Formats: sequence, C-alpha cells, structure tokens
Amino acid sequence: MEKTSEPISRRSFLGTAAKVTAAAALAPTVLRAIERNNSKELNVAIIGAGTQGRILLRDSLRIPNIRFKAVCDIWKYSQQYAERSLGKAGHQVNVYEDYREMLAKEKDIDAVIVATPDFVHAEHAIAALNAGRNVYCEKEMSNTIELSRSMVEASQKTGKLLQIGHQRRSSPAYMNALAMIKNDNVCGRITNCFGQWNRPAQPQLPWPKRYEIPAATLKKFGYDNMDKFMNWRWYRKFSAGPIADLGSHQIDIFSWFLGCEPSTVTANGSADYYPDREWYADVMAVYEYATSAGSVRAFYQVLNTTSYGSYFERFHGDGGTIVISENAAMCYYVPEAEKELPGWLSGVKPVARDGMQVIPFLEALAKKGSSAAAMKEYQEKNPHQFHLENFYDAVRANDKKKLTCPAEIAYGTAVSVLNVIPAIEKAAKVKISEAAKGSRGFSGGDIMKTVKWILD
Ligand SMILES: NC(=O)c1ccc[n+]([C@@H]2O[C@H](COP(=O)([O-])OP(=O)(O)OC[C@H]3O[C@@H](n4cnc5c(N)ncnc54)[C@H](O)[C@@H]3O)[C@@H](O)[C@H]2O)c1
Repeated sequence: MEKTSEPISRRSFLGTAAKVTAAAALAPTVLRAIERNNSKELNVAIIGAGTQGRILLRDSLRIPNIRFKAVCDIWKYSQQYAERSLGKAGHQVNVYEDYREMLAKEKDIDAVIVATPDFVHAEHAIAALNAGRNVYCEKEMSNTIELSRSMVEASQKTGKLLQIGHQRRSSPAYMNALAMIKNDNVCGRITNCFGQWNRPAQPQLPWPKRYEIPAATLKKFGYDNMDKFMNWRWYRKFSAGPIADLGSHQIDIFSWFLGCEPSTVTANGSADYYPDREWYADVMAVYEYATSAGSVRAFYQVLNTTSYGSYFERFHGDGGTIVISENAAMCYYVPEAEKELPGWLSGVKPVARDGMQVIPFLEALAKKGSSAAAMKEYQEKNPHQFHLENFYDAVRANDKKKLTCPAEIAYGTAVSVLNVIPAIEKAAKVKISEAAKGSRGFSGGDIMKTVKWILD
C-alpha cells in the first residue's frame, strides 16, 4: 500500500487538519459492492428451523435464485413457522421430522443448511455431504474435536463444500480491518489481543405448553425432556457451553487476523452462578500465539452475568490499536503517538470515546472510493447474508477455494476453542499446536486470496 508523500503523525492528525493532497490520499482496500453470480437457481433444504435457522431462511430469501424445497425439524412449532414464512415468500416446501427421510426423498437439492444444536451438526452435515449435497453448517462446528475432524474428512472425501457459520469471515468490515492491519500496517507489530462477549444474566428459555414435544420423539432425538431440548446450550451432552457458543466467533478472529492457530491456552471458568446448569457461565482464557512477527497473547472472556461493554475484538500493536465488532458503532482505530497514518485516513474526524480520541474507520472507508451502492449493501445487509452469499456463490462455481470459512478453517477454531475446557478443568496450560495442525496448510494463502477476490 502506497503511503502519502508527507508522513502524517497522530499529533498532526488529531490537531489541525492533516495536509494531504487529494491525489496523494490513496484509497485503501474499500468497501464495494461484491459482484455475485446469481444466474443458476439453487434448490435448498434446511435442517433445524429454530432461532438461527429462521435468520438464515430470511437472509437466504433476500438472495436471488434461491429456492427452498424442504424443511426438517423435530418441533412442530419450528416446522410451522418455517413452512408459513417460506409459503408467504412463494416457496412450497415438503416438511420432515427426520433428516434421513428428507435426504432420501429430496433428490433435487443443491445445498443443505444445518442449524440444529451443536451436538448433531456432525451427524446432519456428514449425512448431507454423503448424500451429495453441499452444506452450510452453523458454528460451533461440533461440540467435540473428534466430530469436528470427521466433518472435515467427510467434506474432503465427498468433494462437497462445507461452509461453517463463522459469518464474520465474510464481513466487509472485518475484511477491511484485516486489510488495514496487513496492507496499511496500522497496528505496527501486534503484541496483544483482547476479545469479549458480555451479556446479561440468561434466564432459562420457556416453551408454550401446547407445543410440547411428545416424550418418545424427544427420546428418539436424544433429549431427556423439554428443558434440555430448549436450553441445550447449557448442558454438556449438547454443547460445549458459552465459550463455544459465543467465544468461537471471536477466537476465530484472533487466529484469522494473526495468521496462525494458538500454541497454548490457560483458562478459568465459573460454575456457581447457575447451579442447575452444567456449563461454565463466565470464562476467561489466555492464548499464546507464535506469529511470524513474534509472540502474541490473546485474552478472551465470555460473561453471562453482565452486559457491560458488549462484544468486540481488539488488536494492540506498537503502532496502534484497532477495535472491530459486528456492531459497526464499535469499530475504531487509535494510533500510537507519532504513528505515520495512511493518507486515506486524512480528514477523518476523530471522535471522543471512553476518554480517548478514536478514528471511526468504517466511516473513513465509506468515504474513500466506495460507491453508494457498496455502502448501501453494507448498511442494509445482515452479517449472515454476506456469508450465505459467499456459500451460494461457491456452490454455483463448485469451488471450495471461494469459501471464506471452509471446514478446515473452522476445525482449527474448534480445536482452539474446545481446548479451553481441559485448560479450566486441569487448571494447567494446555498445548494445542499439534492438535490444531489439521487446519494448517490449507487455508492461509487461499483465504487471503479469497479476501482479495472480494476486495479487489
Ligand atoms: N452464526 C451465528 O451468529 C449463530 C447465532 C445463533 C445460533 N447459532 C447456531 O445455530 C444453531 C442453532 O441455534 P439456535 O439458537 O437456532 O437453537 P434453537 O434451539 O433455537 O433451534 C434449534 C432448532 O433445531 C431443531 N432440532 C433440534 N434437534 C433436531 C434434530 N435432531 N433434527 C432436526 N431438527 C432438530 C429444534 O427443534 C429447533 O427448531 C446452533 O449451532 C447455534 O450455535 C449461530
């Protein structure tokens, strides 16, 4: 990335307007509308039409030439919700309770969305891959490392695409933040990272009595009772707990931005706030990364007892700090004193935040060289839509390399995340580099190519 002829220091930037000519102020990687190949109609089925499944249905319906053919869910409530909302959009679907029947009968499906609880992701995704379907499977890819690995193997054996739902990997905001770090070197040498997802105390989810699932059906699909079915996230059989549920999104960003998996993790978790639940509600973990530039520590916390500060990831370096979040209002950059800034940041007004002057970089990117259509796209789309579009594009092209989060990448994240649990339970530093090797060698280069393909 070219720099301005006159270096701009943070002081001059924050003082009077930095003097950079328009010609010298080069556009960085910019937000721009991504050209999509929507020409071929894709037939799609969904397994699991619950809270997240409905979001994926809604966002898929916003994408041209997606035709839903079938819905599978064990709960009448979810079946009816999906059937009705798809019907309103003109999609007549066949409804199933058992995914095996759906996969056997629906011969004309290009892609299956899996949005069931984590413990059945592997079962559902592998069955769909073996039936010759491409799969978009929600995160956490599985609640165990072994099942996560079996998903990668099934994708490789069948040659079918398996995208995992770490949707930030398709987000223009995240891609631009990474480009700022890599191309514009805004952070200098990154030495530490921080990420958090804090949310208020979580009551157990209730359910309408008239929609209780018969005990025999619950048992057939592995649930002891309606409470376990509704609140599966808090029980060990079904989930790896909040560190996987929320942390997997953000620990994935550490590895993506740093360009490698962590080598160790130490962690602590609380189990007393919700005595009737099985998972650690509040977790604090410290990862060590051996990056090509040197060692980095990443502190991650997920708190289910306070919403303070919400959710974001932060990368600290000797040149500056960048904060990124799915919440656009929380994305900003704070340079170190005397840091030479890329010219395109000139004229961007810093704003006061938490006692600091910060540069809201998304606004800057929006002004620099991007079309009105691109900004409209970014502002209007739900983050999941970008990720689904990436999946459907890759399916149409039958090209796994176009996926921004193929199973191999998500496997590395699953290994990093799931190792937090033994770190808590052994109260010891857990080495994870060997276990994570399976994800290496596939992604780095290809993924940066994908980023360029989207940004160029
Ligand atoms: N990417 C994201 O931002 C994001 C956000 C929320 C949830 N998720 C993920 O989406 C998945 C679903 O989460 P949710 O919040 O929608 O849960 P949910 O409990 O609201 O929905 C799960 C749905 O799956 C159905 N189901 C359960 N077992 C089934 C089976 N064996 N066969 C068919 N259907 C079955 C349930 O009836 C329900 O409709 C989880 O993996 C979760 O981690 C991702």
